[in-house]
Amino acid sequence: MTQDGNQAPLNHSQAWQGLDQLAKDAAAISLSSRFASDPERAQRFSGEVGNLFVDYSKHHLDSHILDTLCALAEAGGLASKLAALRQGAPVNNTEDRKACYPTLRRWGKEHASGDPAIDTMYQTMQRLVTEVHSGTRRGATGKAFTDVVNIGIGGSDFGPRLLCDALSNHGSSKLKPHFAANIDPSVITDILGVIPAETTLFLVASKSFGTQETRANAEAAMHWLRETLGQEDISAHFMAVTSKPEAAARFGITPDQILAVPEWVGGRFSVWSGFGLAVALSYGMPAFEAFLEGGYAVDQYVAETPMAENIPLLLGLLDVWYRNFWGYTSHAILPYEHRLGLLPTYLQQLFMESAGKSVDQDGNRLGFGTGNVIWGTEGTNGQHSFHQLLHQGGDAIPCDFIAALTSYNPIGDQHQALLANCFGQSLVLMSGQSSAEIEADLLAQGSPADEAASLARHKAMLGNRPSTTILMDKLSPAALGSLIALYEYRLIAASFTWNINPFDQWGVERGKQISQLLMAGLANGEADNVDSSTAQLLARYAKAQK
Ligand code: F6P
Repeated sequence: MTQDGNQAPLNHSQAWQGLDQLAKDAAAISLSSRFASDPERAQRFSGEVGNLFVDYSKHHLDSHILDTLCALAEAGGLASKLAALRQGAPVNNTEDRKACYPTLRRWGKEHASGDPAIDTMYQTMQRLVTEVHSGTRRGATGKAFTDVVNIGIGGSDFGPRLLCDALSNHGSSKLKPHFAANIDPSVITDILGVIPAETTLFLVASKSFGTQETRANAEAAMHWLRETLGQEDISAHFMAVTSKPEAAARFGITPDQILAVPEWVGGRFSVWSGFGLAVALSYGMPAFEAFLEGGYAVDQYVAETPMAENIPLLLGLLDVWYRNFWGYTSHAILPYEHRLGLLPTYLQQLFMESAGKSVDQDGNRLGFGTGNVIWGTEGTNGQHSFHQLLHQGGDAIPCDFIAALTSYNPIGDQHQALLANCFGQSLVLMSGQSSAEIEADLLAQGSPADEAASLARHKAMLGNRPSTTILMDKLSPAALGSLIALYEYRLIAASFTWNINPFDQWGVERGKQISQLLMAGLANGEADNVDSSTAQLLARYAKAQK
């Protein structure tokens, strides 16, 4: 702490200086040689977390590096900030809100969260789901619902969309889920083109209930439904999930169809709350509760495990290690599980909206970088695309390989082949292949010596590229809950160590304001106080409308 009570800059700490030197030393030690010199390495740096098995042995680390990273976390106040989070202190200091996500997850196991507002939210959710499934709640023409359209964006979309995709193996859906997020009119048009008007329920999911995209898509759905059903009262078809129930009611949602979520629940963390309504309507409340329980298992693990063995926190510290001491700015998420295809997109918001910050919690400009570019796609598709850059590009990019050990849809040995690719990629990223070995192979195959030497230089792979492998037995709701919670703690561990607030997103809020301002400019073809480039774009739009 400094004399004025603020936390001292992290990069002035002793641990930071130590890590600077350790990174230089570690750069001279290959990952392969770390394995060769320690037969216990894989066991030493792996473990079970909730419903997951995590192997983090293919990283540039040893016990001393981990201890020093833990000392850095201590200098950043990670343990005390985590305790404050659990106790419900306002750790989101710029919005004066708590971020007590374990409370939300506890419901899944105990059906009591310890917070009356949370209990009421889940009880209301349970009631709405039961009424829809039992047919007590029906559409305007008296038919039971068959389809549900979640209209929301950002955290009000990514989470339920990912879960519905991931759980689609978990029994047949009770209501068929659809998702409308983007304001591009083609999105809602496509959905309205395939859903049955009489039996579709729309969920308007918006924490603020002021988001332009969501309001516009909901208005379009209301207009379409009135026209298609030929009646004015279509209120039976609309529910809302929001922290602003009054605004939802003003929008025309019937009060007893509004699911209120406490204000402190942040958008990108809201899949644990009433914003999971589309999931519960589609795959049932028990599946949603099993998801919560899987997350809660990670809460308990994190609370009970010493920092030096606490895998979700260590993964966050490894992010700090690579970002600040190795200069890596990108991180690939590679799910070798088709039903997790949306995971990279989900984690993009979780990590980049949270850790994309340049000032610390006290508003002081940071003297180091935070946050990574998060990207990726499902395996093996990525192998036939960007893995070339992972293997031979000039920059190392740490990767997460995520896989289920058994498939819900086995066909011959296809799933085995999927895992062979998954494990093979992390192996080759680490071990690489030397030009000498390739040259010897080419010579053995009869290539002329000069050709072999030249081609070997192109084929050589440096290797030494770090990765984590996360396995689950099956993509069950509980395993999914553990996976999302693990990533949340990883993000929070890095953010608290950096002393940034991972729970606000002022840059995004400014973007929302600007687009509102430019709406008028687009209508008029001009706007005050804009640069000549923007003015030119506005004018071109106005011309195209004539
Ligand atoms: O994208 C910014 C953001 O504020 C996210 O954090 C949030 O998930 C999203 O907008 C949607 O906001 P709302 O749920 O209020 O419509």
